[in-house]
Amino acid sequence: MEPDSPLPWPGEPPLGGVYSELEVEAAVDAIRRSMDWRIGFRAANEVEAFEAEFAKYIGATYAVAVNGAGTGLDIAMMALDLEPGDEVISCAINFPGTHLAILGQGARLVLAEPDPGTLNLDPIDLERCLSPRTRGVVVTHMNGLSADMDAISEVIERRKTPRRGPIRVIGDGARALGAAYKGRRVGQDGWLTVFSFQSKKTMTTLGEGGMLVTNDRAAADRARRIRSFGDGAAWGTNYKLSKAQAAVGPIQLRNVDALNDRRRLGAAIRNRLLANSDQLSLPTEPEDFRHVYYLYSVRIREGGRRRRDRLLANLRDDYGIGAVVGNPPTYSKNPWIKRAVGQVSLPVAELVGETLLCPSMHPSMTTRDHEYVAGALMELLERH
Ligand SMILES: Cc1ncc(COP(=O)(O)O)c(C=O)c1O
Repeated sequence: MEPDSPLPWPGEPPLGGVYSELEVEAAVDAIRRSMDWRIGFRAANEVEAFEAEFAKYIGATYAVAVNGAGTGLDIAMMALDLEPGDEVISCAINFPGTHLAILGQGARLVLAEPDPGTLNLDPIDLERCLSPRTRGVVVTHMNGLSADMDAISEVIERRKTPRRGPIRVIGDGARALGAAYKGRRVGQDGWLTVFSFQSKKTMTTLGEGGMLVTNDRAAADRARRIRSFGDGAAWGTNYKLSKAQAAVGPIQLRNVDALNDRRRLGAAIRNRLLANSDQLSLPTEPEDFRHVYYLYSVRIREGGRRRRDRLLANLRDDYGIGAVVGNPPTYSKNPWIKRAVGQVSLPVAELVGETLLCPSMHPSMTTRDHEYVAGALMELLERH
């Protein structure tokens, strides 16, 4: 079977969402409104409107627009007021930039194992990682599936008195906008959660951008100050979103649920066709979770890294289907992180890194496209 689109499909498409004339008009209009020298590109009105709509969508009290999820995580780490020797825990299966944000603010990064089914932080292993020096846990909602936030909070609460202040849970929802857990959108739980509007994400504010949400007023105020040179009251720098970016934000946001539904439909088609394969572990969606399938993550059950790498190459060369390994343990790809964490033993994370593959997924794909992906996987698994 041939795909509907003749071009090869990138593993993680450079445009994860969809753009229309509405966004073009909003951006052009923002530029036109800025051409008066007495007004310029001052973005306060557009940013405030976008923040209000985003906070309402998530169900959080405050939203603070920033220029990326990476810088949002920088702010979250600064707001922890870390001291030398303080530790921040995060799952080894992660986006490397998430760990760079932790290390960048001087924390000791403590790596936890993933649950191999969900790829999210394993609450049982979190218990092993907690210490009197733990100040924060950065929980990435991998590939569109919320982490088990109640289990994570229970483990933290069960622990004896922390050294100073509470242990803060910081969510990385860069890949999980619109995902939900027990009826709550990702971003409602935890202390702060960041989202990304980088081009590959489900929505984008002209290629870069991000949002930080929280119910903690002091944390929101702190984030606003850091974002804008301290607002005369504290240290800060410039992490602001531009006017044209903020103007397209609400338009993109209004489309997110529909695009997530298309991703969910595509995943359901693939899951149905692959359900009988004893060669693959398919993405899981535990009861009461809403997965938004930023990536469609499967793992091969046998053959390890060599077989997985052959599959990746054949998918690309024989079928025009790109696939990414999203993600191996961060230290395995990034020597800087490796040097920072030193020798670690994380057999589950290693196994996930060797067996994972995420074939191209996009909301514009048709039923036939999803059937083509599933068919290609089935054929290749039989051949290898
Ligand atoms: C899980 C995760 N966290 C953080 C980021 C960083 O986001 P940004 O590019 O908006 O800084 C990304 C991707 O870009 C990501 O996938």
